[in-house]
Amino acid sequence: MATDKKFTSLAGREKIVGNSEKLLNVLEKIENIAQSNANILVLGESGTGKELIAHIIHENSLRAEGPFIPVDCASLPENLLESELFGHERGAYTGAFSSKPGIVEYAHGGTILLDEIAELSLPLQSKFLRVLQERHFRRVGGRKLIEVDCRVISATNRNIVEAVQEGCFREDLYYRLNVISLQLPPLREMKEDIPLLCDHYLDHFNRENCRRIKALSPQAMDLLTRYDWPGNVRELQNVIERSVALCQGDVILPEHLPEYVRESGGVSGIRLSLPFEEAKKEMIDIFEKKYLNQLLGKTGGNITRAARIAGVNRKTIHRLLEKHGLARKGDK
Ligand SMILES: Nc1ncnc2c1ncn2[C@@H]1O[C@H](COP(=O)(O)OP(=O)(O)OP(=O)(O)O)[C@@H](O)[C@H]1O
Ligand SMILES: [Mg+2]
Repeated sequence: MATDKKFTSLAGREKIVGNSEKLLNVLEKIENIAQSNANILVLGESGTGKELIAHIIHENSLRAEGPFIPVDCASLPENLLESELFGHERGAYTGAFSSKPGIVEYAHGGTILLDEIAELSLPLQSKFLRVLQERHFRRVGGRKLIEVDCRVISATNRNIVEAVQEGCFREDLYYRLNVISLQLPPLREMKEDIPLLCDHYLDHFNRENCRRIKALSPQAMDLLTRYDWPGNVRELQNVIERSVALCQGDVILPEHLPEYVRESGGVSGIRLSLPFEEAKKEMIDIFEKKYLNQLLGKTGGNITRAARIAGVNRKTIHRLLEKHGLARKGDK
């Protein structure tokens, strides 16, 4: 599984599956930077393992004994996120019946992961910049200055340089966060890791579901290696979970894989067993998914640009993403 001679000294290495050159390069870089105190910006498409890598950096840092606290900047509206991050004093706003420390305070002596950093509003960006510069802050509605010592790892699947150019992200904060950047390659560029990942997740879901599926058939493995994995490792994980659930025997076959994965192998997808209208709908679905994946791959997830290239409005792109369950939180 995750076996290699190098990097065995990295704590948590066993959680990372893969031996490709590109993955090993990332691990080598982690080994070099983990012990420094520098802030790190982790970049990569959705599902490439940004949070996993951030955690491993923490586990290998001098702060490993301290807390590791992930915060999703896209999950809360601005005022709630401010209080979540910085805490508040009693009476700071209606409903604040007691005072509460924020995540930044809890992260003292450890690492904070600012996930989906590009979604942080401009006012919160300013507040965070001040924390990084001055190493202290005040709770919402509070006067006391609270000292904080935490390392910041931020992560995003967006093109943050573009966000800086468009004025949506403060340049000074970008430089503070991006002392070192780490780019995680998409799974389609590390295809040699796919069999290892499949075996790993087969094992995992066998155990989780008390199943004893022995293997993936060579044909199934072939299709999985040809597919492009726009949702990266997380998508692969979901596909294996689904195929374990569908498989009755002890080998996973192509028929247990989703249609769009089978189709990517060039297997003629048209199901003559279906009535014409249903077969047509199935093909249209496959086409739409493939089209969206390639289009958004090309624009790095930027929907405005995707709409422009496709000659449709953004609403249409959003509707299609929703229809196929491809919408990501914070899509713009
Ligand atoms: N190389 C890998 N080996 C094993 N598991 C992995 C690997 N890369 C990612 N994973 C797993 O894939 C899933 C997605 O990873 P993670 O949540 O870290 O991705 P992410 O880049 O933060 O995604 P998002 O942008 O959607 O938040 C997790 O379950 C993680 O453990
Ligand atoms: Mg994440």
